[in-house]
Amino acid sequence: MVWDILVAGSLNVDQIAYCSRLPGPGETLLGERYETGLGGKGANQAVQAALLSGEGKVGLLGAVGDDQNGSWYVEELAKTGTDCSKIITKADCSTGVAPITVSMENGENSIVVVPGANMRFTGEDLDEEAFKGTKIVICQNEIPVSTTKRALQLGRAAGAKTIYSPAPCPSREDFETFSEEIDYLIANQTEALELSGKETIQEAATTLQEKYKIKSVIVTLGGDGFAVKSEGELTLHPVVEKVDVVDTTGAGDSFVGAFSYSLTKTQKTTIEHAKFASMVASRSTTRKGTQKSYFPLSELE
Ligand code: RIB
Ligand code: NA
Repeated sequence: MVWDILVAGSLNVDQIAYCSRLPGPGETLLGERYETGLGGKGANQAVQAALLSGEGKVGLLGAVGDDQNGSWYVEELAKTGTDCSKIITKADCSTGVAPITVSMENGENSIVVVPGANMRFTGEDLDEEAFKGTKIVICQNEIPVSTTKRALQLGRAAGAKTIYSPAPCPSREDFETFSEEIDYLIANQTEALELSGKETIQEAATTLQEKYKIKSVIVTLGGDGFAVKSEGELTLHPVVEKVDVVDTTGAGDSFVGAFSYSLTKTQKTTIEHAKFASMVASRSTTRKGTQKSYFPLSELE
């Protein structure tokens, strides 16, 4: 078993309340509808990559708790073609959950994550065998920083390209413990500004790319497209296609998963890979839910 793409990251059960709008502080709002689904940034990215790459090409390293959510999650995740054989179960611990509110007005969301087993997934829990022969290693920030660092190091040592998505945004101090292991940094606007301490996308992307010597920094800008800073000047790219947005939950993860698939499949420029990823991610916003809104390759054409 060799995976093209290895994701080391989180699994959360998403508990989504669809409301007319997002509630304000101290406010009680009646929701319209409630849904439970598979989420967690690590698993989301793996699923989008697997839906494009095909069964068994993408594997996830991570942990669930020894509760009902955990066994249900892994059973469902396997149906997406993601290799779940290395996902471990942590004793005396709950599976990660994410209460989410989605505004039915504009599809925007707000998310709280209770990490449970994800934060107990250590560097020693990473299956080193799984890294052999893999082309891409992807990490986010919903598992311990030391685990992320180890995963990126193992990826580099195996000759893989590494992708990091700073979500939720780590402290600069934590980020700097592994920043030298990153080839592609994919951040949204908020994360890019916070991580760089800058005020504009231009400054943020340039600072992150130059200061941390990252091959390419990609900043996703929602409905405004994305920005790329590699060796040359920063470039801005509008969305490839306009869509009717229903639910943006997990769109950033869809971008990362699709980008990684494109990297393994074609010899294109970073900008071309990002254009494909942007198209796939924007499609995911046209359907409700997180992983269940993701498009497989067959539905993209
Ligand atoms: O990026 C979206 C994801 O963030 C959700 O699936 C939720 O679980 C949190 O991890
Ligand atoms: Na969606």
